[in-house]
Amino acid sequence: MNHPPAQPNARVFFALWPQAAERAQLAAWQAPLKRLCGGRAMRGETLHNTLAFIGDVELYGLEVLQRAAQEVAGERFELCLDAARYWGHNHIVYAAPHQTPPQLASLVDALEQRLDAHRFRFDRRAYQPHVTLLRDAHWSDAPLPALPPVCWQVADFALVQSVRRDGLADYRVLARFPLRAAGG
Ligand code: 2AM
Repeated sequence: MNHPPAQPNARVFFALWPQAAERAQLAAWQAPLKRLCGGRAMRGETLHNTLAFIGDVELYGLEVLQRAAQEVAGERFELCLDAARYWGHNHIVYAAPHQTPPQLASLVDALEQRLDAHRFRFDRRAYQPHVTLLRDAHWSDAPLPALPPVCWQVADFALVQSVRRDGLADYRVLARFPLRAAGG
């Protein structure tokens, strides 16, 4: 009996994907943090803030995801990453905002709502905005030093594919979805 060819799968997530300027500023946090906490620095070109993690989807699922994202009516906002923090449960050092902009919380809510509307199953964790900077790091509960804030004008969000290349996670931005101007 003939079977149809297996559909190739893609491992994908939605994220805020910084431009080169913010990436460079965030990458500059890595060396001083690594001196304190050890671990592995994420490559500068991979730095991002995950909005919703989807996981493996087939090609048809990618089309549905793009449609769901196009239905999200989000507003542009400024995201100031102004705190370096450590999670002991997964040994990650990350950059975070002291305060989550309300437009960011609304964007995540709207995205989850559109994914639900398209009956898309995804990993629904309480959203905690973060940009992972170091993996396999070690630190205590003590605060990490203050670093120059990175303020990023967020004008879109992205659907990103995670690809393993030579044992390393590499990311491909598949599509970007613009946010509307504030008050627009
Ligand atoms: P992390 O940086 O905190 O590890 C690609 O793997 C991106 O998706 C990373 O930003 C990663 O977060 C995030 N991610 C991986 N698995 C996830 C999951 N099950 N739920 C939420 N985010 C996840």
